[in-house]
Amino acid sequence: MFPWKNIVSIDKNAPTPVYLQIVGAIIKEIMAGRLISGQKMPGTRYLSEQLDINRKTVVAAYDELMAQAWLDVTPSQGTFISQTLPIVRQRQWASGSIPSYQQLHTAAFSLSFLPSDGHQTEKKEMLRITDGSPDVRIAPMDNLYKRCREIASGRSRRQYLRYGDEQGEISLRKALAHFLHTTRGLSCSPQQLLITRGSQMGLYLIFQLLLKTGDYVIVGESSYPVANEVIRKFQGRLLTVPVDEQGLQVEVVASLCRQYPIRAMYITPHHHYPTTVTLSAERRVRLLGLAQQYRFAIVEDDYDYDFHYASSPLLPLISMDTQGVVIYIGSLTKCMAPALRNGYVVAPENVIQALTQYRKLIDRQGDLVLEKAMAAFIEAGELQRHLKKSLKIYRQRRDDFCTLLQQQLGEWIHFQVPDGGMAVWVVFASDIDLLALAKYAHTRGISLEGVQDWHRFQAIRLGFASLNAEEMQRGVEVLKEGITSFKRKLSRSA
Ligand SMILES: Cc1ncc(COP(=O)(O)O)c(C=O)c1O
Repeated sequence: MFPWKNIVSIDKNAPTPVYLQIVGAIIKEIMAGRLISGQKMPGTRYLSEQLDINRKTVVAAYDELMAQAWLDVTPSQGTFISQTLPIVRQRQWASGSIPSYQQLHTAAFSLSFLPSDGHQTEKKEMLRITDGSPDVRIAPMDNLYKRCREIASGRSRRQYLRYGDEQGEISLRKALAHFLHTTRGLSCSPQQLLITRGSQMGLYLIFQLLLKTGDYVIVGESSYPVANEVIRKFQGRLLTVPVDEQGLQVEVVASLCRQYPIRAMYITPHHHYPTTVTLSAERRVRLLGLAQQYRFAIVEDDYDYDFHYASSPLLPLISMDTQGVVIYIGSLTKCMAPALRNGYVVAPENVIQALTQYRKLIDRQGDLVLEKAMAAFIEAGELQRHLKKSLKIYRQRRDDFCTLLQQQLGEWIHFQVPDGGMAVWVVFASDIDLLALAKYAHTRGISLEGVQDWHRFQAIRLGFASLNAEEMQRGVEVLKEGITSFKRKLSRSA
């Protein structure tokens, strides 16, 4: 006798209707080969008695299974598992229970590429010292979302709620072109702009477009780890160049160009990630010259251009590009909030057209309502106002944070006050175990997010922009406690 009671376990409190629970259980048994093609099913009265439910529920389940062609009825003979189903190797009930989907932790097939874990964003409620994120508490989200609501409910909403321009809402491309011109001296047309969901998507699309297996890509010895992952994903070979206080050492780039056919270079010249130094004007000119001479692409990731506290910032490389060697990546996520996925790529038109085709393959198009709202937000000068306000707050926070670091941790660390950006690159004394320090901080409710990436440099990128005065104080205090307790242990064991 088939053990129906064991197989169909019914939970009357579950959100799934009981008849669908029966349908699911029977399909699972067929797929597992314990109910086989042509097998006779019990009558509805019998099954309802076995399961202790109303007969009508079993009838509804059988009707559904028939509609889906799992069961057939032969008049005056009964209900059978459909003859047309492919034969699944028969198994006995004794061969164990079928795992539920939630028990399937590993797929039955292999995966082609596994990105390394990288640093994980802390999911628990902790004080996060990130590698440099904006303070989302000051972002004027009400204003932006008010615009979204107006667009989504206004007269022209149809235009923004259906499939639209894969390259990005034209009004946002126009507004950004104007914004880039006034803020960075970058004179591009809306046709040379692609809207992405943050810079990350831009990075992915660009290296997908540029790289063939084995292509050489130059990056800094320290560089944005996620960009390295993307390059590896597309089978690029990384060549690394040292970084000093003037940025990437361009003479080493020149020497690599003489030895290898370089396809591309990834660079964050404004504030080098992670060390925050600015690439000198002289090196910029030399780099553009090399790219023109050896015909490689410079992928310029300008993730935090809008936050510069010293004199006026150097213009991006692309603003000096007269030959079409630079592909520029920018983002509004750092200006407003990381969860607001609006970024962009600027490049010669043929590059943008190709990137748009790739974008379509993974994401058809962006959020047009948000893009339209962002365009209006920029046109009204709101983004610029918000940047001005955040710049003032972050400058103060940078100063306060650097003073605190110096006062509290000065004997164990050294750092340069960054000219811009949202983080300080802090190098620790060589006998401080940074992983142990991060562990200690974790027990005290502080998550140090960039430690995994940088402990091999004996450094951490400490983000200050998202911390208010009290949070900074707490963060630095915990670091000091961690270091001093660590030092005490060291001196005891010496
Ligand atoms: C150097 C760099 N590039 C790109 C990104 C990705 O930013 P987005 O949020 O715009 O995707 C980050 C994020 O931290 C970054 O630090």
